[in-house]
Amino acid sequence: MIYLDNAATTPMSSAAISAMTQVMQETYGNPSSIHGHGRQAGKLLREARQELACLLGTKPQHIFFTSGGTESNNTAIIGYCLRHQNRGKHIITTAIEHHAVLEPIEYLVENFGFEVTILKPDDNQEITADQVKNALREDTILVSTMYVNNETGTLLPIAEIGQILKVHSAAYHVDAVQAVGKLKILPEELGIDFLSASAHKFHGPKGIGFLYVASSDFDPYLHGGDQEQKKRAGTENLPAIIGMVAALKDDIDHLEANFNKVQKLQKVFLTEMAGSTYYLNQGKEQLPYVLNIGFPGQRNDLLLLRLDLEGISISTGSACTAGVVQVSHVLQAFYGEESPRLHESVRVSISPQNTEQEMITLAKTLKNIIGG
Ligand SMILES: Cc1ncc(COP(=O)(O)O)c(C=O)c1O
Repeated sequence: MIYLDNAATTPMSSAAISAMTQVMQETYGNPSSIHGHGRQAGKLLREARQELACLLGTKPQHIFFTSGGTESNNTAIIGYCLRHQNRGKHIITTAIEHHAVLEPIEYLVENFGFEVTILKPDDNQEITADQVKNALREDTILVSTMYVNNETGTLLPIAEIGQILKVHSAAYHVDAVQAVGKLKILPEELGIDFLSASAHKFHGPKGIGFLYVASSDFDPYLHGGDQEQKKRAGTENLPAIIGMVAALKDDIDHLEANFNKVQKLQKVFLTEMAGSTYYLNQGKEQLPYVLNIGFPGQRNDLLLLRLDLEGISISTGSACTAGVVQVSHVLQAFYGEESPRLHESVRVSISPQNTEQEMITLAKTLKNIIGG
């Protein structure tokens, strides 16, 4: 079996598994309890927050633990916009965001009278900082863009947008779910106000993530307890938090080696594909972890099924509902609704845990299927 769907979720690292196992066995107290067991858990929670803050070059009070990317995005977008709606009701985002950004914005538009400008990639398949600059209005209160696209691996110009927003009152939310653990990210230097992350995308456990918050005030999303500075009620999932921080530390310790390895794996795959007919769906700036590749005349849903029968897991990258692959809104934004790419493209998403042999097997199997 070969797993090349790491943008959907990653296998956990052994660092994360062993850190979590130890906490599950030894530190089961509730971090809010005042007795010894609780204090022990509380200490681990404080240390984990401190370590995570350190990895992001910030202070622990800026880190809010959540259940993952979806909750972080919803908290930042809905929590910030509802809190500050008296200052303006205009939001800027991009057409290539994850649904966990587009739908909370849609919710604000439909239920609270917000207006949204959705930026489309230009003819070079790029979202530019100038597009953001031109879309800014006096009543814009939030700009939300992703760091790296989950379907194509395309990088967005985060630092440039952050720079533009330094002279505007709008807050900047960055969905960094596909970037954290792959790039060194220092949100304070980048001018980011909210940054969303999810542990299961960087070899940590599922159902845990965090939201970095610079200083902006936001309405809590979950009510009913004083945890997380009264901004996110509910007993903290300590084992998952410990697993997440261990995973991130491990990734950041090996950032360059991991990047180089994944780049090499992608190259091995493409070298092996030489001679077959394919195209890549890419922007100008790319991370090597995601390769979106299309095969003229081949149906992507059938390709996925055939690969699955051979024990290889990849995806189209777009959402799957009840086992049916939906057309990608990201590729639609890049290439238009009529583009055959929407039905011919698949996503290979690579982790440093993959091997060269796996990449060669994928290429050979694909070639057999497409007859090239
Ligand atoms: C860019 C992006 N944002 C948000 C999410 C949602 O994260 P989670 O699965 O932790 O809710 C994903 C997951 O696919 C993603 O790729």
